[in-house]
Amino acid sequence: MSQRPLRLGVNIDHVATLRNARGSAYPDPVRAALVAQAAGADGITAHLREDRRHIIDADIESLMARIEIPLNFEMAATDEMQAIALRHRPHAVCLVPEKREERTTEGGLDAAADDNRLTDFVAPLREAGCRVSLFVGHDPRQIEAARRIGAPVVELHTGRYCDLVAQGAPEEAALELAALMTGARLAHSLGLEVHAGHGLSFATVQPFAATPEIRELNIGHFLISESVFMGLGPAITEMRRLMDEARG
Ligand code: PXP
Repeated sequence: MSQRPLRLGVNIDHVATLRNARGSAYPDPVRAALVAQAAGADGITAHLREDRRHIIDADIESLMARIEIPLNFEMAATDEMQAIALRHRPHAVCLVPEKREERTTEGGLDAAADDNRLTDFVAPLREAGCRVSLFVGHDPRQIEAARRIGAPVVELHTGRYCDLVAQGAPEEAALELAALMTGARLAHSLGLEVHAGHGLSFATVQPFAATPEIRELNIGHFLISESVFMGLGPAITEMRRLMDEARG
C-alpha cells in the first residue's frame, strides 16, 4: 500500500486541566489550539466530559469560533452530549466510554454490546455532517460492530501499548502492538478510516506513524506535558518530525 498522509490531532484537554486547577482564566486552551494550529497540527481534539473537569462548554464555543483547522469533539454517547454536538456541528465527533471515577479514558467503547443504541445515536450526528469515530480496542468484534453501527472511522486505543513500553515489558508490548496492527488492517479492509491515540509520546509514536492504514493520530497529555519544558509549538514540531520520519 502506498503511504498516505498522516494527520496529527492535538488534544488540548490538559491545558484546561491546569487552568481549572486554580480556577483562573489561564492557561487558555483556545490559545493552545491556536499555537498548535500555527505549529502544523491538522486538527484539535477536545473532550467535554460529563463532570467538566477540564474542557467546559464555553471552550467548545470558542474553539468552534476561533480555530481554522477541524475540531474533533470527543464525548460520551449521552443525550446531553449529542444535543451539544448537534448544536455546534463540529467537523468530527469521537465517541468514547466515560466513567466518572476514571482518571482518563481507560478502555475502548463496548460497541459490540451496545450496537443497536449506538446505531440510533450515530445517525443524527452523521446527518448533521459530523464525521463520527468510535474509540475502540483492537478486538475484532468491536471493529466489526463499528462498521455495523455506521461509524466511518475507528480510533484504536493505544494506551495499553504505551503503558507496557513505559513499564519495560517489551514482549507484552510487542504482542499488544501486533494486535493493534491486525486491528488496523481489519478496520481498513472493512472500509473504515483508522485513527489511533492515547498515551502516545516521542518514544511510542513511530510504529503507529509507520502503519499505512492509520490516517490520524490524536495526542494530548504528552504534548502538553512536554510543553512545560520545550514549549508547545516545538513539542508539536518534534512530534510531527518523528511521525514524518517513521512514515517515510
Ligand atoms: N484519543 C482519545 C479517543 C482519547 O480519549 C484521548 C484522551 O482524551 C486521546 C486520544 C489522547 O490521549 P493522550 O492525552 O493520552 O495523548
